[in-house]
Amino acid sequence: SAAEKSGYEYFMLKEIAEQPHAVAETLLGRLNETGDLMLDEVRLTDQDLRDVDKVFIVACGTAYHAGMVAKYAIEHWTRIPCEVELASEFRYRDPVLDRSTLVVAISQSGETMDTLMALRHAKEQKARVLAICNTNGSTIPRESDAVLYTHAGPEIAVASTKAFLTQLVACYLVGLHLAQVRGVKYADEVAAIIAQLQEMPEKIEQVLSMMAPIRELARDLAEAKSVLFIGRHVSYPVALEGALKLKELAYMHAEGFAAGELKHGPIALIDEGTPVICVVPSPRGRGVLHDKVVSNIQEVRARGARTIVIAEEGDVAVKPYADHLFYVPITPTLLAPLVTTVPLQVLACEIASARGHDVDQPRNLAKSVTVE
Ligand code: AGP
Repeated sequence: SAAEKSGYEYFMLKEIAEQPHAVAETLLGRLNETGDLMLDEVRLTDQDLRDVDKVFIVACGTAYHAGMVAKYAIEHWTRIPCEVELASEFRYRDPVLDRSTLVVAISQSGETMDTLMALRHAKEQKARVLAICNTNGSTIPRESDAVLYTHAGPEIAVASTKAFLTQLVACYLVGLHLAQVRGVKYADEVAAIIAQLQEMPEKIEQVLSMMAPIRELARDLAEAKSVLFIGRHVSYPVALEGALKLKELAYMHAEGFAAGELKHGPIALIDEGTPVICVVPSPRGRGVLHDKVVSNIQEVRARGARTIVIAEEGDVAVKPYADHLFYVPITPTLLAPLVTTVPLQVLACEIASARGHDVDQPRNLAKSVTVE
């Protein structure tokens, strides 16, 4: 009913709007005044966590994209090798697992069969399993050694939005916690990130207040045959997530690429007017990456692409190559997906609605996939 949607046309729009709150809730009570992380639902001992010599993240769909972001953060902060794997592929590959492997299973529903089977396989091989989950008491957390709940609240729309953002937060918390427990190499950076995480709800709110031009653009893109998304580093999974949302909701061909891979093939797809959504890393920090993405934008534009650029406030270098430019607030590189994903969610939702589709109930999809 309209009341359940609090006046929004779709649950998805309501859930997109709830993201600042969902992120704040997921952070709540997990950081104390001195900046120490308290993950009390994690029943693994600090010693168990110190013994970890490899992390595997297993998940499906959107949760897998959160895992891809986590890999960058966990490896950078902890120096522990971290692999991300589609849950449906994991056990069939016969992965190398033992007691010192930490397997992180990410799932909104906690009932996804592919993820559950990957988790069971990991446990059989004696790995420790930590679930990141949004549904209290569901099967995946019940079967895990430890669980960190995301506090997104119930997600009704089939397309995941607030669950994704809170999964990112939970992944950051796991990475920071591992770093702290093991004696941090980048103590200053970790302390700064903890402080900056607290500012994210407000930044997401800012992004949400600037969505009118995205909605306008959506109407314009509704007839496109195909939409491409490019990004690098943590913006690469954001590009994949943007493309997945568009496929699920608008039934359009959409594909995400690591921008550096374009020249190895996908650039041949670019035709006159092909929309390419470019998620640009911050020009501060890992500056080299930024410049490389700017040249990738230049390259696709020179081949006729219509470039839609999501960049950090104050990034003037992208201006000459952007047919449409959307700024997001300044954010540490690793946390940027919390803001850059939001316009892509809104874009997919609005394109789908312009094409006349039921945004909350896309065809052929179920909210929770309980078959393998
Ligand atoms: C997201 O928009 C999807 N509908 C889907 O990819 C989902 O993220 C995936 O099926 C995993 O679900 P889970 O998080 O409940 O395990």
